[in-house]
Amino acid sequence: MLKILLVEDEKTFHESISKMLRESGNEVIIAKNLARFQEEMGKEWDILLLDRQLGSEDAWSWFAQNKSKFNTKGVYLISACSGIQQRSQESLNYPVVSKHPPMDFMARLQEEILQFQKRQARQTISDVRKQATALNQKPLMEFYNSVYLSKPSYMIGIDTRMHKIQEQIERFAPGDIPILVTGPTGTGKELVADALHKRSGRKGNFATINLSALSENLLELELFGSVKGAFTGAEDKKGYFETCDNGTLFLDEIGDISPLIQVKLLRFLEYKTFQRVGSTEEKRSNVRIVCATNKDLRQEMDSDKFRKDLYYRIACMEIQLPAMKERSEADFDLLLEHFCQNYESNNNLRLGTFILPEKIYKILKEFEWPGNVREFKHAVKGMLQYANDGKDFIIEDEHIPYYILHPAIAPKNKTQIALERLVDSIPIEISHEELESIQNELEYLFLNRIYLRYGKNWSKVCKLCDMGETFYKLNKMSKSFRPIYERIVGKENTEEQ
Ligand SMILES: Nc1ncnc2c1ncn2[C@@H]1O[C@H](COP(=O)(O)OP(=O)(O)OP(=O)(O)O)[C@@H](O)[C@H]1O
Ligand SMILES: [Mg+2]
Repeated sequence: MLKILLVEDEKTFHESISKMLRESGNEVIIAKNLARFQEEMGKEWDILLLDRQLGSEDAWSWFAQNKSKFNTKGVYLISACSGIQQRSQESLNYPVVSKHPPMDFMARLQEEILQFQKRQARQTISDVRKQATALNQKPLMEFYNSVYLSKPSYMIGIDTRMHKIQEQIERFAPGDIPILVTGPTGTGKELVADALHKRSGRKGNFATINLSALSENLLELELFGSVKGAFTGAEDKKGYFETCDNGTLFLDEIGDISPLIQVKLLRFLEYKTFQRVGSTEEKRSNVRIVCATNKDLRQEMDSDKFRKDLYYRIACMEIQLPAMKERSEADFDLLLEHFCQNYESNNNLRLGTFILPEKIYKILKEFEWPGNVREFKHAVKGMLQYANDGKDFIIEDEHIPYYILHPAIAPKNKTQIALERLVDSIPIEISHEELESIQNELEYLFLNRIYLRYGKNWSKVCKLCDMGETFYKLNKMSKSFRPIYERIVGKENTEEQ
């Protein structure tokens, strides 16, 4: 629990802010004018939230002159105008939370406070459990749940973008307008589709169909169904449009469908009718279509691979998911905590001591995560499984996948891998002389290849490899380098140097 002093004169703001903060278990005192604010001087506060204008008085200027008389650990300036941010930070040097746009304001404030709590309570996620208990504070995930208690949340995330996505899910879920979910692989597109169905109140089934996994004929049958005799061996069979009547059909990889399926889908979206394969009977379905893709459909449209009319039909309500590396630090921590909790509940255990050293925490946080949340989730699961000694989880380097620990040799960088292999092939038991000769040999091989590649032009080699005069001029070369040089250029050609 934090002790928070809220200095704010606008009723709508101080009512909603204090409600939110109190619901998360904090103690909040409101000062609606400067006189009331002055009374709090000298008392101990965890956080001061300070609006600029109190009636006609400038609270920031007054605070700038009197801040030494306040005993507050964290100060956040609340600003009504966005342009003020830079100036205020210069004079008061505290973070500013802008009231505009109002929809984002609460989320931003929550995030700032969460950050503050984190800084106060811990240095790494490992400490949150220990210190949160010690300070009688809620661990991060519980804190998150309490903030979002009134809104069921299906996507873990607290930053502004995730807040917007939650908001979009709530608003888009009712009704039957198609929804397009876009974002790189593993960012949670299917999770969004599932959440949309759950929040829609639709009583019918939810089904996912991966459009890229099936041939055109098979896909047609799966989507629209068939009638007996339509082709050899054909049976009366319902397709997804029928089995998901009054429900939701999630069409994954929509960017991969053939022109024929595009036409049929468009027709369905226009008239809500379709025909089973082999039948002319028009059938109706009240299925909600949610589509997803990690392709750029606009680009597909420009190269005539995706119909424009279909794009405009499915893309009027779009939910864009951010890549893992674009997400905030608070979100990273929440996901980490969430996947740890998942691991606990899936394995029916409670993490005893959980230590994630700052160094490893930083590596995980700075990693690019090209596979996004999915990749992160599996890395966390693997890390816990490996570190699980039946009681405690002390995370060490070896519990982290090698390619994450050494991002410089990520799978893509073949040269680096080859070089590492080469160096690894050097025996451990080796004399100083042998090692020196290997070093020289490597140098020779490297420079000789470049020399041959660039038309046996030594001065070019020196330029390319950024080697100075000592390598260029024979008389300045070191004793140890001279034989290498002579092997490359040839003794007979060294005279002019
Ligand atoms: N915000 C989130 N909170 C919790 N779990 C998440 C979140 N985002 C993704 N995940 C988890 O990551 C995994 C991948 O999510 P999902 O399958 O929805 O991704 P996707 O965008 O559909 O990926 P692809 O494009 O590869 O099909 C799932 O296990 C999902 O539960
Ligand atoms: Mg998916």
